[in-house]
Amino acid sequence: MSHAPSASLSRRHRTVRDALTTRALDALVITAPSNVLYLTNFTGSSAILVLAAGSLCFITDFRYVTAVSDMAGTAHQCPDLELVTVDGSYDATLARVLAAHPWKRIGFEAAHLTVARHHWLAATLAAGGSPAAELVATDGLVERARVRKDDHEIATLREAARRLSHVAAGIGALVRRGATERDVALEIDVRVRRAGFERSAFETIVASGPNGALPHAAPGGRAITEGDLVVLDFGGVYDSYCVDLTRTVSVGPASTRAREVYAAVREARARAVASVAPGRSRFEIDAAAREVLAGHGLGEAFGHGTGHGLGIDVHEDPRITRRRPDVDAGDEEVATGMVFTIEPGAYLPGWGGVRIEDDVLVTDEGVEVLTDVTTELIEI
Ligand code: GLY
Ligand code: MN
Ligand code: MN
Repeated sequence: MSHAPSASLSRRHRTVRDALTTRALDALVITAPSNVLYLTNFTGSSAILVLAAGSLCFITDFRYVTAVSDMAGTAHQCPDLELVTVDGSYDATLARVLAAHPWKRIGFEAAHLTVARHHWLAATLAAGGSPAAELVATDGLVERARVRKDDHEIATLREAARRLSHVAAGIGALVRRGATERDVALEIDVRVRRAGFERSAFETIVASGPNGALPHAAPGGRAITEGDLVVLDFGGVYDSYCVDLTRTVSVGPASTRAREVYAAVREARARAVASVAPGRSRFEIDAAAREVLAGHGLGEAFGHGTGHGLGIDVHEDPRITRRRPDVDAGDEEVATGMVFTIEPGAYLPGWGGVRIEDDVLVTDEGVEVLTDVTTELIEI
């Protein structure tokens, strides 16, 4: 179970209920596990939540009933939760819950309910369960509420970033000549767990030498070698919240080219961080990093976005990306309470790569960098 106080959960319910009212929905069926967690503190793998103006129905199966009941009376209890135990299948139980209420317009999360499940549910309701009900596709109703973090989430992310920074401060010692990328990744994972994280937030990246040119390289059997730049990208989940950090180290003295590329990426990171403020366009923050790299002739070497939101998911809104016709330009301005990464990089096929990644919080005054570990080039 996660630990948002009951009062925070109530506020979250209110925000999503307001969104239902705006869209003239009577209820919302929530099937995305991270959205269920956000609204209930439930961290199990299977549950469906049905949120309506006057009720909050939580459907789960036998495996989790005791865990949910045990939350009753605690400071983290989900307020007004009606527990329904699965009888038969999840979807059959959901259909019965929907049929037991007079709801007409029932929203579902289009990004998280399969076409097959939607068809089954629509047919079951039409065949007698609730013939007047209409299933209405919704997009990001809960995700939009999640994008600005509340006090509990900010405190959790701050603590998580502090712990991950502590791990990062010690990674130089793990990058030993002759060790394979896989060895180093395993040791980082152990340190992440020892630092109090529930698990890694994603598969740790250790990309040495030419492998550094692959932004999401999987650690392999290559041995760390004198002269390598090594990209180390790792994250942890702390009380259900993800943090994410990258440093690039040099094995032995860095070459002139490595210093130049590193300095350009470091400057891009600094410019992007300095550009963060409430009301700033997320595209402008991306451009701040991209312009620095382009100025050093590395524009083509930076092929991904400058950052992504962090929270219950390791990649969530806001997306700090290039403005392009095929990218949704909505919700352009960043706002107080948003937490996201700044992670420019330069990737040169056949040569290697550099990435530096930190996690930032948008504050009323501008920006707070949550991760705290040197960005100087470390030569080990
Ligand atoms: N390794 C995942 C990321 O930095 O986004
Ligand atoms: Mn990362
Ligand atoms: Mn990241």
